[in-house]
Amino acid sequence: MIDVVILAAGQGSRMKSDLPKVLHPIAGKPMLGHVIDSARKVSANAMHVVVGHGAQQVKAQFGEESDIQFALQAEQKGTGHAVMMALDNLAQSGTTLILYGDVPLIQSDTLDALIQITQQGKVGLLTVNMDDPSGYGRIVRDANHKVKAIVEHKDASESELTIQEVNTGILAVPTEKLHDWLPKLSNDNAQGEYYLTDVIALSVGAGIEVETLQPEFAEETFGVNNRAQQAELERWYQARLVQDLMTQGVTVLDPARLDIRPGNTLGVKVGRDVVIDANVILEGQVVLGDGVHIEANCVIKNASIAAGSKVKAFSHIEDADIKQGCDIGPYARLRPGAVLENGAKVGNFCEVKKSIIGEGSKVNHLTYIGDAVIGKGANIGAGTITCNYDGVNKFKTEIGDGAFIGSNSSLVAPVKVGAGATVGAGSTITKEVEADKLAVARGKQVNLNWQRPTKG
Ligand code: UD1
Ligand code: CA
Repeated sequence: MIDVVILAAGQGSRMKSDLPKVLHPIAGKPMLGHVIDSARKVSANAMHVVVGHGAQQVKAQFGEESDIQFALQAEQKGTGHAVMMALDNLAQSGTTLILYGDVPLIQSDTLDALIQITQQGKVGLLTVNMDDPSGYGRIVRDANHKVKAIVEHKDASESELTIQEVNTGILAVPTEKLHDWLPKLSNDNAQGEYYLTDVIALSVGAGIEVETLQPEFAEETFGVNNRAQQAELERWYQARLVQDLMTQGVTVLDPARLDIRPGNTLGVKVGRDVVIDANVILEGQVVLGDGVHIEANCVIKNASIAAGSKVKAFSHIEDADIKQGCDIGPYARLRPGAVLENGAKVGNFCEVKKSIIGEGSKVNHLTYIGDAVIGKGANIGAGTITCNYDGVNKFKTEIGDGAFIGSNSSLVAPVKVGAGATVGAGSTITKEVEADKLAVARGKQVNLNWQRPTKG
């Protein structure tokens, strides 16, 4: 039985934000979400989130999930007090792992190793060595190098202050013992708080060894108290996500200028020989097939781009499905529901929404296609607009295979243009154009004799 207690009651006042600190994101996912996901990876049976400041907002975001229970810490009287709020909800035996909603990047491998320690009947404590340990709880050891206690900075003696090994706050304790020890904590210390760290001395006093462990990366234990620390962890995490893509065979022209924000999705899935140029942002679930090339300054969110397709610079793609060998941009905008069949092209300053662009069809310049179905091999001339909206309702435009829409035409939906039909440039089409017909719907040109006025 593994219980995880996640402390998330603090105010986070240095964030200067209306959003509770633990809901601020790293890579598009709330920090608390990262912690919960790591806990799930170590097969936590139950998670107990201790909330206080912003409790309603935190609960609103995570309350639906069945493996999460909340405990309210109305007044913040210390980390030990916070864990006490969840004590009644913990199992009687097994392991309890203590984590923090504002220490988002703890890795499940590290947690696994800590849990292993408790399975040998000991307490597992995660520590790091710091050049400047000020502010942190110091790990005090005896002559045999065994952990004796944690002493908080404000309670430490001169000599204890020189200790560079510090408490990360993350620890794993046999749950049965936690039930014993927490009620014994006192707040007789420099800060008048119930320190969770005092369970270490209680453990040693009870003859239970405290074994320390160091994380693979110090960043796993970094807490976020302000926007600068949030940004620092965001950069570190981004470097790892990008490194992972490169390991999978992606060419990333500048690893420092690719951002990956999976949020709560599975993130980015790539084929072979994908190339991503500078200043690209990939959000949500993005699938990039073999040989996909993303040029500079593109934002791609929840989209699938199949093999051999190219997204040229400054394009914006969201909730779109792009099949093989398509050509997009530069400066294209594909909105939700855009589907490009194999070999379709959507060029500069074109917007496509909830529409299918058929195989090999071209929408190359300055066009809006909304609520439309375009067949194969059609050519949509520059400046074509599907007039899909009457101010209240949306209507559909259907364009058949091989149709040719002359430049600067308006297709007033609902309307159909048949296969092989042609629309003369500048037409406003309000009625069906049958297959293979030429529709011209514009004022006729007249050439008059005329004398242009001259200046007196
Ligand atoms: C704590 C540790 C210290 C360690 C440091 C690592 C204690 C007594 N000290 O110190 O040894 O080096 O973390 O960063 O545990 N929280 C609550 N309710 C409370 C108090 C805190 O939920 O009543 C939460 C905070 O929101 C925060 C975390 O617990 O996420 C740590 O609290 P904080 O006050 O930052 O602890 P430190 O004094 O830094
Ligand atoms: Ca702190």
